[in-house]
Amino acid sequence: MKKIDWDNLGFDINAAEKMFVANYKDGRWDEGEIVDYGKISIYPSAVVLNYGQGIFEGMKAYRTKDGRIAMFRPYDNAKRLNMGCERLCMPTIDEDFFVKSIESLLKVNEDYIPPYGKGDLYIRPILFGSGEMLGVNPATEYTFIIYMSPVGPYFKGGFNGIKLEIRKDYHRAPLYGSGGIKAIGNYAVSLYPKKVVKRNGYDEVIYLDAKTSTYIEEVGSANFFMLKDGVLSTPRLSGSILPGITRDSVLKIARDVFGLTPLERDIRYDEIYDADELFCTGTAAVITPISLVAYDGEEHTIGDGRPGEITKKMYDELKGIQLGEKEDRYGWFYEVK
Ligand code: PLP
Ligand code: COI
Repeated sequence: MKKIDWDNLGFDINAAEKMFVANYKDGRWDEGEIVDYGKISIYPSAVVLNYGQGIFEGMKAYRTKDGRIAMFRPYDNAKRLNMGCERLCMPTIDEDFFVKSIESLLKVNEDYIPPYGKGDLYIRPILFGSGEMLGVNPATEYTFIIYMSPVGPYFKGGFNGIKLEIRKDYHRAPLYGSGGIKAIGNYAVSLYPKKVVKRNGYDEVIYLDAKTSTYIEEVGSANFFMLKDGVLSTPRLSGSILPGITRDSVLKIARDVFGLTPLERDIRYDEIYDADELFCTGTAAVITPISLVAYDGEEHTIGDGRPGEITKKMYDELKGIQLGEKEDRYGWFYEVK
């Protein structure tokens, strides 16, 4: 096994030794196999390389305090992947096959799951059109790969809060486009806006709706939440926002555990300047506090600039459920046996 510095994990590739590969040909998926992680060979005319026919998922495996291996709502990732496959004219994958393939790979990569409290094993399933095509048409052959990498916090500085810049001049996804699925192209177009805001000293972009540049959509790789006057709000799923599994979990925890009445609504970008707390949510981001937002050269510190009470409580509750330490009233905790 590779040597891994468990105490200094970031969100970097440190691929676990094995990966899972399945192929789709003549109208069916094969049973797949576990092979060494490494380069794959692909035709230059593969549809994914020419026309971006590809999708991915993001999940984690957790090491519990008593040494068990757990995942969080893995069937929801399977469902979301399949929704995306439909939109991109790719064959769907059986949900049980998806989850069982991850489980069998986790068993052989078990040593790469960070020790309790040091990080998690990030799971990256990808599915793409590997068959040849010259015209703009769906491929007839597809490849499904799962690889894994131990990771720490997605944002450097982790739980202290991140600084975001609202941009009207770059959009992530238009309505009726591919924003609601994890299409690989969505991330390609986010690279440049991220570069621009990084140059300005911020961690990520807050994207606005592509039609009016007025309402918050999400952060480049996470969903957005605001607490203001005791009300928790998040942008409604307009179609161009990714339906995050963490977002859904936070809404349910807010309602059932914290007794809040969360709202899914349109949030104007200038409503957030005097919010009490802001945070973003995702598999990689978990619950990351937002300490400052900037727009057009003006900076607005959120609250006292430190992580808010509800943000911290939400992080503890979510992590607690993921690690099997808090009551799991929804059946989200998934033990790999
Ligand atoms: N928004 C985008 C654009 C993402 O890439 C992700 C990550 O998957 C999320 C939101 C959060 O989704 P989830 O909570 O399912 O990880
Ligand atoms: C995740 O949170 O798993 C994501 O996919 C976001 C990002 C790393 C692209």
